[in-house]
Amino acid sequence: MKEKIIIKSPKQIEGIRKASNLTARTLDMIWEFVKAWISTEELDNICNEFILKNWGISACIGYHWFPKYTCISLNDTVCHWIPSKWQVLKEGDILNIDVTSIVDWYFWDASRMFTVWEITLKSDKLIKAAHDAWKIWIEQIKPWNHFWDIWYYIARHVEPLGYSIVMDYTGHWVWINFHEAPHVFHKAKKWSWEEIKPWMIFTVEPMINVWKHQSKLLKDNWTVKTKDWSFSAQWEHTILVTETWYEILTKTDKDFWFKY
Ligand code: MF3
Ligand code: CO
Ligand code: CO
Repeated sequence: MKEKIIIKSPKQIEGIRKASNLTARTLDMIWEFVKAWISTEELDNICNEFILKNWGISACIGYHWFPKYTCISLNDTVCHWIPSKWQVLKEGDILNIDVTSIVDWYFWDASRMFTVWEITLKSDKLIKAAHDAWKIWIEQIKPWNHFWDIWYYIARHVEPLGYSIVMDYTGHWVWINFHEAPHVFHKAKKWSWEEIKPWMIFTVEPMINVWKHQSKLLKDNWTVKTKDWSFSAQWEHTILVTETWYEILTKTDKDFWFKY
């Protein structure tokens, strides 16, 4: 059944603008800790301490029994890898740290790519292509554009490079609930009439694989790997649609990817 679509009230929009954007600041903060020999569990704990210290809470822990505070997905992992003390970073790793925090009852969901020392040229190109895909998507955000039409703009850019867009996982509405309907497809399976409307809040989080788009879910019921073991990269931000355009809610001045 299709869930009811709720457009946010001006008062709520004011509220969300006032509440601190802790998710993005957590990603700014964690950058200096991403080094060889640190475990993803340690990174997860550092993020959680920072969130708590700033009067927020992680939306991940306990969400459908997810056991940790963030998702930290390395190399051939598409998304949702559970941080672990056994997963230690090494030179050449590329990783996505995905943080969702709640402050004043509002949710912010964002993720960025991080690298450990020298990475291969191939990984570097993938990370940039994934960022381009994200940027291309958000540049299409404007009231009354159709959600469905947008995937074509990404595909036109990344597919000629040999990459593919993950279809099994999508962006989502977010606000006072983690995952609200409808889905925000990066490459849609089905056509839909859904329009972008003012004051919608949703995430854009394309996952780009070096080779094929298919993924597989591991036995932990969370970790999503590429089926062909090729590397995968993702960038995510929470977006507010305004009457004429959009605002990136999970943006900070320290995020140097905005200059790229
Ligand atoms: N933050 C992820 C997303 O972008 C969802 C993580 S669900 C969790 O949608 F439970 F694993 F945290
Ligand atoms: Co998300
Ligand atoms: Co996320």
